[in-house]
Amino acid sequence: MRVLGIESSCDETGLALYDTERGLLAHAVHSQVAMHEIYGGVVPELASRDHIRRLIPLLTHVLTASGCTHQDIDAIAYTAGPGLAGALLVGASFAESLGQALNIPTLPVHHLEGHLLSPLLAADAPEFPFIALLVSGGHTQLMCVTRVGAYELLGESLDDAAGEAFDKTAMLLGLGYPGGPALAKLAASGTPGRYKLPRPMLASGDLSFSFSGLKTAVLTLVRDKTLSETDRADLAAEFQEAVVDVIAAKALAACHQRRLFRLVVAGGVGANLRLRQRLDAALATAGGRVFYPELDLCTDNGAMIAFCGAQRLAQGLANPVSQGAFSIRPRWPLNQLSAESSGS
Ligand code: KG4
Ligand code: ZN
Repeated sequence: MRVLGIESSCDETGLALYDTERGLLAHAVHSQVAMHEIYGGVVPELASRDHIRRLIPLLTHVLTASGCTHQDIDAIAYTAGPGLAGALLVGASFAESLGQALNIPTLPVHHLEGHLLSPLLAADAPEFPFIALLVSGGHTQLMCVTRVGAYELLGESLDDAAGEAFDKTAMLLGLGYPGGPALAKLAASGTPGRYKLPRPMLASGDLSFSFSGLKTAVLTLVRDKTLSETDRADLAAEFQEAVVDVIAAKALAACHQRRLFRLVVAGGVGANLRLRQRLDAALATAGGRVFYPELDLCTDNGAMIAFCGAQRLAQGLANPVSQGAFSIRPRWPLNQLSAESSGS
């Protein structure tokens, strides 16, 4: 079975064709970063309009690259939430229209479930059960995953997500959008420890996170000061270290809590090399290991949506297929999905 995946929840348009026997046939992503850069963040209306422009050329590209035609598509999975309402509507209406035209089923997919299952697309995929660490622009969550569709929330951020903290702090340091990769790059030339930042909730005894105070601490350090390039790099390095310290400690604590030393990392912040180093080291000391998606599948893409849709179809976990009507869910808690799945 070949599943077309469509991702349009934020500022990337991603399409992919996944074959349940042959694996990923092709995937293509158009990033809107250059378009939003001058505004310092995503402009929702511009994002929606750009998704409209990109969908058909990307579909053509994916079909050509995989040597397939429209008739070879057996089902369409698309991101129905969470995300920007207008951007989601573009992908959803395109997917539903194409589904009707081709007379094939369509499947709304949860964006975070897509991220969470994306390491399973790697050649060396983890087995169930595992602990999942979701670190994206909108979420920081630790979950226990026993199978596709069963996600138990162990802990999450009480305020800013890790990616959001990276983005906001990058802004304070005068770096562009998106801030995460830019801050990580600057941090590579700096030394952590010269500036002292807190490790929020490191000793809280639970698996909750809080990153908004860290951004405020950086603001206090930079306000009304002229920082040299070295100062900025050292501050970036300390910020990254503080975030990574907390995430690595809590991820390891989650593994100990469940006596499960297979950790799966997903979401954009999972591309951070320092985080990867620290997680690898933490799990190695406990005799476990960490699984990551391929680097180009860490950030938003259509492959994870196609794969997630294929898994749901294979396990009979499909969300109800629309009959010409559909809805998107800009807010959609992942743990709600488990309850919906077991009820369907
Ligand atoms: O998963 P994603 O592509 O989109 C969401 O669903 O949110 O994650 C984007 C987030 C942004 O906040 C971005 O700054 C962050 O991931 N990010 C990084 C790195 N690459 C992307 N943060 C830290 N280090 C990176 N190398
Ligand atoms: Zn994402």
